[in-house]
Amino acid sequence: MLKISVIGTGYLGATHAACMAELGLDVVGIDTDEKKIAALSVGELPFYEPDLPELLQKHIKGGKLKFTTDFNEIADCDVHFICVGTPQMKDGLAADLSYVKSAFAAVAKVAKPGSLLVGKSTVPVGTAQALAATLPANLELAWNPEFLREGFAVEDTLRPNRLVIGVTSDRAEELLKEVYAQNLKENTPWVRADLPTAELVKVAANSFLATKISFINAMAEVCEAAGGDVTVLAKAIGYDPRIGNRFLQAGIGFGGGCLPKDIRAFMARAEELGASPALEFLREIDSINLRARQRVIDLVRTELSGSNNMDLKSFKIAVLGAAFKPDSDDVRDSPALDIAAQIHDAGADVVVHDPKAIEPAKKRFPNLKFAETIEDCVRGADLILHLTEWKVYRELDPNSLKPLVKQTKILDGRNALDRDKWRQAGWQFHALGRS
Ligand code: UGA
Repeated sequence: MLKISVIGTGYLGATHAACMAELGLDVVGIDTDEKKIAALSVGELPFYEPDLPELLQKHIKGGKLKFTTDFNEIADCDVHFICVGTPQMKDGLAADLSYVKSAFAAVAKVAKPGSLLVGKSTVPVGTAQALAATLPANLELAWNPEFLREGFAVEDTLRPNRLVIGVTSDRAEELLKEVYAQNLKENTPWVRADLPTAELVKVAANSFLATKISFINAMAEVCEAAGGDVTVLAKAIGYDPRIGNRFLQAGIGFGGGCLPKDIRAFMARAEELGASPALEFLREIDSINLRARQRVIDLVRTELSGSNNMDLKSFKIAVLGAAFKPDSDDVRDSPALDIAAQIHDAGADVVVHDPKAIEPAKKRFPNLKFAETIEDCVRGADLILHLTEWKVYRELDPNSLKPLVKQTKILDGRNALDRDKWRQAGWQFHALGRS
């Protein structure tokens, strides 16, 4: 039976560790953050991810999974997965590789001869080859990008739609086939690539997804100008299987810890490679995305004051949603919170609700007001902004909210609410990209 380690226990690492135990492997998760390891060791997760706490607890109890801060405890592992973060640099577009570099160095110090170090972090192309050159000759490196979505992390890891491995030898591929034996039995597509291609697959996939979202948001802008309806347009073009209907939800755009920083780091890397023109379009994808947030703020102004130059001082605005997407408490680069903060800065009395992300949102924006219940959030509001499409918001009863608000105005920033239901209940309903 293979024994593996997982270095870095954030969204990616904690999920990978628990899921590899579920696939039958012996797993040691390691992190330098003692508090995080203490929590994980008793099956507590420092973030919200459906199904993951149960899986952690199951395998900690069953003895297949443990967590430590001591690198000596991973010395006897056959395969090491490096899952640390690569955030955007504070002073530019590029990715900060310092965690990846120190993780590889720390593992290399203790790893037994013949073991395989596998990068899963999203890195600029060329990183794997550069890291391989720093390893002792008796260790081997591979790259195995991760495509999990927050909110579906367990499902995506246990049943991925493909496995991509960047390797430089058949032996490395065989070891990874042993790790993923269960997935291979279930016929998960297996793509063997060289190191740079494996790194590129990840950023290419995220760039494509970002492009799809910005494309539909660009169409939303045109629909607004021309009096069209982007939700109908998306449905109609999505029936063409070459286009497909997923990731065509127009609204306030993409955020989170991946898509925004990945397209920026990709542009920065292309520039270093002398290939900037190839990725120039991603700059436009980024601006369309950020413009969607500004369009909401302009709409709020016109909704409330009839002009988009007026200040918002005398208005109370209820913001439904703080997380960057539903079923997550992640507020990194959250379009919803960014909009809430900008409207607050413009003078409005803003109150934010989220089913799971209030604590992380408070940490990021301590000046904003937060409400524990939807009712407290909307009480006395001149306008409700629906910015993260949690199920509980989609199922709201517009009639029951009516007596609570000051004005029955709602703006759907995610095109996820039932417009007819709200209008029939007497609300002024607006949505991005719908005339
Ligand atoms: C994304 C990718 O989808 C994963 O495949 C990838 O593994 C991950 O990044 C990563 O690099 O680690 P994630 O950040 O969890 O996953 O979120 P997505 O589901 O991709 O959503 C990203 C953003 O796009 C959210 O803010 C969401 O609200 C927005 N979005 C998504 C739209 O605005 N419209 C859509 O139609 C779809």
